[in-house]
Amino acid sequence: PLVSMTEMLQKAKSEGYAVGQFNLNNLEFTQAILQAAEEEKSPVILGVSEGAGKYMGGFKVITAIVKALMEEYQITVPVAIHLDHGSSFETCAKAIHAGFTSVMIDASHHPFEENVAITSKVVELAHIHGVSVEAELGRVGGQEDDVVSDGIIYADPQECLEMAKRTNIDALAPALGSVHGPYKGEPKLGFKEMEEISKLTGLPLVLHGGTGIPTKDIQKAISLGTAKINVNTENQIASAKTVRQVLAEKPDLYDPRKYLGPARETIKQTVIEKMREFGSSQKA
Ligand code: G3H
Ligand code: ZN
Repeated sequence: PLVSMTEMLQKAKSEGYAVGQFNLNNLEFTQAILQAAEEEKSPVILGVSEGAGKYMGGFKVITAIVKALMEEYQITVPVAIHLDHGSSFETCAKAIHAGFTSVMIDASHHPFEENVAITSKVVELAHIHGVSVEAELGRVGGQEDDVVSDGIIYADPQECLEMAKRTNIDALAPALGSVHGPYKGEPKLGFKEMEEISKLTGLPLVLHGGTGIPTKDIQKAISLGTAKINVNTENQIASAKTVRQVLAEKPDLYDPRKYLGPARETIKQTVIEKMREFGSSQKA
């Protein structure tokens, strides 16, 4: 069923695993991720960035595709459609009205008071619709779509506590050294802050930039209260590699089904691996 993230993440947190957010880029990603979740009996969060939303034809188109595929595949596991890095109240409202079950309001580049004010407004609307809300503090490094970060800023635990108290959010993404896209060298995650923020807020924490984080760090993050891990680049790299291989082996090939089909299979396998790594397999 289509659900918000709230129960999914509470359960994950209390049982010591994390639910993967896997970003949609096109139809094949959507198919692969839903199939992987059902096969693994895993809850799943479908991440939709503003850029991917535009690319796929708008939020309403995405909701319609997801609902139709869920019916076609007879999906029994909990699925959330989640706006990833919503940049304004307006975009969040659009996603909510299009039937998304969860939104992230990323006002982390605004001064703290403004971040709290925008986030509160989103929570108020979202909760009327039974939609969950994720907020962000600090700054994730790297680049995602058009969102270029000008450096990593670690989230401040006291601000996280304030945010939790004043906004009624359902999940918190404190930036603690993670990066969108591939890492240059080993990631240096702020585990001390992660533990503190988890204890102070009691909220399920979200780890952005899940691509390229070593398994030991993933496990440590989960043990310190991380209940959601976002992955996009890893699926993009894996599927692009498959497309390159297929086209290199068969230079005369032109039917998109013949290269996107194998790419879809690669995405599915990559997602299955992540679900096992995060411990969400067989938890639906
Ligand atoms: O919000 C999306 C994620 O944080 C994706 O990060 O592309 O580095 O896996 P990633
Ligand atoms: Zn992110």
